[in-house]
Amino acid sequence: MSQNTSSAVMQQRREPHDSLDDFPTQPWATRALCEHVLNGRNLKGRTVWEPACNRGHMSGPLDEYFGAVWASDIHDYGTPRAFQHDFLFPVLPISEQPDWIISNPPFRLAEQFIARACEVASEGVAMIVRTSFLEGVGRYQNLFSKNPPSLVAQFSERVPMVKGRLTATGSTATSYCWLVWINGEEGTRLNWIPPCRKKLERSHDYAPGEVVA
Ligand SMILES: C[S@@+](CC[C@H](N)C(=O)[O-])C[C@H]1O[C@@H](n2cnc3c(N)ncnc32)[C@H](O)[C@@H]1O
Repeated sequence: MSQNTSSAVMQQRREPHDSLDDFPTQPWATRALCEHVLNGRNLKGRTVWEPACNRGHMSGPLDEYFGAVWASDIHDYGTPRAFQHDFLFPVLPISEQPDWIISNPPFRLAEQFIARACEVASEGVAMIVRTSFLEGVGRYQNLFSKNPPSLVAQFSERVPMVKGRLTATGSTATSYCWLVWINGEEGTRLNWIPPCRKKLERSHDYAPGEVVA
């Protein structure tokens, strides 16, 4: 059988079982969450914890919208103001309960991350995941049947993520959505995030030499 080796398909997020899943998120995707999904929630009056912050490409944009941001990761990537912490370790490393926990969790630990985040955050949790994360009998039984998200916000555009670095130009065959749990809300709404990449991308988001697509 012939293999499909197009660049989009080749950039799917496949990682060894024990990998840290080092795939930074394009900053515009986090701004899209704040502007198109959490809009109207007075984020400036809220705190947020990004517990798998990697190189800070999500905690940076969160800082533009929230009143205070904590950023941590199990690995030290040298990210300014971030601290090292295993998010699944059952002790809170910060002085107060955050209003929100927002992240792009390591894929193989996403269910555990969501469960822990829902225990810890006082107002809500948002996780960017592959849209295919919504399917699967095991995930339905362990997660969605017991704790369905309040909102599924599907990107209309693709969010290219590549291993170990942020890309302005990469392509991807993988579709992403934000899953949002809001304390006290029942039922699941489905929304679409309109095309917004061009408007929400900043030239300083990427390393010098990376061209904004
Ligand atoms: C997909 S990357 C996150 C990228 C980052 N949130 C962003 O959006 O740019 C997954 C991150 O999870 C971190 N990680 C893996 N296991 C972890 C754990 N148990 N606790 C905290 N961070 C963990 C990895 O080091 C990696 O930086």
